[in-house]
Amino acid sequence: MNKTIIQDSSLSEVDEIASSGNFTIELIRRLGENDYDPLIEISHSLADEYGEKYILNDNTIRKYFNRQGSLPIIARFQKKIIGYIIGMPLELLSQEPWCRLDENYGKFNTLYTYAFVIQNKYKKNGYAKTLKKVYLNWAKKREGVIFSTGHVKKGISSKFKGKVEIINQIENWQGTGEIFEYYRRDLDPEKIHQKKVG
Ligand SMILES: CC(C)(COP(=O)(O)OP(=O)(O)OC[C@H]1O[C@@H](n2cnc3c(N)ncnc32)[C@H](O)[C@@H]1OP(=O)(O)O)[C@@H](O)C(=O)NCCC(=O)NCCS
Repeated sequence: MNKTIIQDSSLSEVDEIASSGNFTIELIRRLGENDYDPLIEISHSLADEYGEKYILNDNTIRKYFNRQGSLPIIARFQKKIIGYIIGMPLELLSQEPWCRLDENYGKFNTLYTYAFVIQNKYKKNGYAKTLKKVYLNWAKKREGVIFSTGHVKKGISSKFKGKVEIINQIENWQGTGEIFEYYRRDLDPEKIHQKKVG
């Protein structure tokens, strides 16, 4: 007899990849509708500094969280979502005007950090640090990926640990009137991972 498997689209399919007490970090396999609203709410805090474009909606959630090749990771405290970070292969962002200017565009070796956000009351206590660390570890596990890049406000990336260089400066990022920098992080400075994948 044929067995029909009905997927419940309201529930997320995740792998718990780190945890400590009430704090957990989950790699999203497929985001369920129950998790849309908390993510949309958190994304509002990006709008002031980065522009309205960063406020998530159902379509952009599907685009960034449920897209083959992306690396969406969420953080929960007591089971409630408190933040997220999303990595996207440069090649999936081809519609962005800055994207093809990266010398690595087309090489499938770079994950662009599209968004990184933690709810205000959970900032400055190590959760963001852990989320970022776990994200970078998973980014370098992706076959062929050796760099992560991103846009941050001028001066931010010089504080990053690791091998990070500033590639470009943008005078008026996304119409915010702010100067941003485009940084590139070498995820594998000792070339350990590159040897492994050949
Ligand atoms: C960015 C954010 C998640 C950092 O959280 P926080 O609790 O304030 O974090 P901390 O100051 O303890 O820093 C944690 C790590 O994040 C890094 N960080 C801080 N600001 C960052 C930024 N704008 N982009 C990327 N990483 C950043 C820090 O350098 C630190 O990394 P380290 O472990 O290598 O030292 C948080 O401030 C936030 O949600 N800001 C609003 C959204 C935002 O500006 N996002 C960034 C670009 S989309």
